[in-house]
Amino acid sequence: MFKVNENYQKLPGSYLFSTIGKKVSAYSAANPDKKIIRLGIGDVTQPIAPAIIDAMHGAVDEMGCAETFRGYAPDLGYEFLRSAIVKNDYQARGCDISADEIFVSDGAKSDSGNIQEIFAQNNKIAVCDPVYPVYVDSNVMAGRTGTYDAKTEMWSDVIYMPCTMENDFVPEFPKETPDIIYLCLPNNPTGTTITKAQLQSWVDYANKIGAVIIYDAAYEAYISEENVAHSIYECEGAKTCAIELKSFSKNAGFTGVRLGYTVVPKELKCGEVSLNAMWARRHGTKFNGAPYIVQRAGEAVYSEAGKAQLKEQVAYYMNNAKTIKEGLKEAGYTVFGGVNAPYIWLKTPGQMTSWEFFDYLLENANVVGTPGSGFGPSGEGYFRLTAFGSYENTVAALERIKKL
Ligand SMILES: Cc1ncc(COP(=O)(O)O)c(C=O)c1O
Repeated sequence: MFKVNENYQKLPGSYLFSTIGKKVSAYSAANPDKKIIRLGIGDVTQPIAPAIIDAMHGAVDEMGCAETFRGYAPDLGYEFLRSAIVKNDYQARGCDISADEIFVSDGAKSDSGNIQEIFAQNNKIAVCDPVYPVYVDSNVMAGRTGTYDAKTEMWSDVIYMPCTMENDFVPEFPKETPDIIYLCLPNNPTGTTITKAQLQSWVDYANKIGAVIIYDAAYEAYISEENVAHSIYECEGAKTCAIELKSFSKNAGFTGVRLGYTVVPKELKCGEVSLNAMWARRHGTKFNGAPYIVQRAGEAVYSEAGKAQLKEQVAYYMNNAKTIKEGLKEAGYTVFGGVNAPYIWLKTPGQMTSWEFFDYLLENANVVGTPGSGFGPSGEGYFRLTAFGSYENTVAALERIKKL
């Protein structure tokens, strides 16, 4: 008789966005005349930039020709893409990362969920709270998180690092010593980040205690402040303690195209064991490469035309962020984020819980956002709005919220 992985049984409740979807569908069915504006899920809305579309068309044509057809991609990704990544995302920022430290993938969700596989079961993880739920859930599936307390919404073997308005959303070194530290900066959902100096202190801490940092930089393209690092490898000593995850989803609108990469420096070792070699082994065994057409699209992200078009796209979303942030402030809300990330994090008014505010906003303004409690217990009492909608919808949503 087969047995299932019982760790899956431990996962609480249904997925945040399916609960939101059900609530919105029920409201729409009961109120078919209402036009709902969705500022909930973190999906982009602007079309893929022309330089990237051109590159994809070119690659499609190559696939239709015997001379230029490509089959399986190289395990770690095509050289042309890995070199473009190294040159633009690392060398340009003074980071000494080489192409054989880059692993091209189908996006940061799979990498952020899969990376825990190369670590022993008895590692203790530390996460910012609130944060992107994949880090904890993938460790639950691996049996690394102990037991769940439904009341506190916490796992017994996870170290939570609260990031709230009380500490300016800056995680503090935990009392208990972690082995694996997940940092998502700029953060989803709070839209806040930390300075390069603060990040350096995390790198120093990890090197001191022998921990590894899994650094999710999915929102790096939205950083606007000078004193914020675009890569953890801008910090001294990061190559001996950090793995960096990157995505093309938010900087280039690839949520449906699918492309990302992970950096595992060769200097990152556990005793004599190289994590780069382990991840290469894992990648080679379980992943058959991102499509050629998509990797050519990724290369075009770094072309001169691509860079210029994507700068405009990011600016478009960040103008929405500004519109939301200023509009909410005018309406009397306490708001955070929106400066280095496309998320606005607001304190729910009048002691409402996150879900109470979700219902209130849906029913009275027909605007959908995301309850903060869905991202961790310290997200309770907060609410996330995204800047990924169209400008017109963003303005309309704010008009409605201001009238409440
Ligand atoms: C912090 C963070 N990491 C990773 C992802 C997923 O990225 P991808 O689309 O590359 O899988 C998201 C998506 O919302 C995210 O918010």
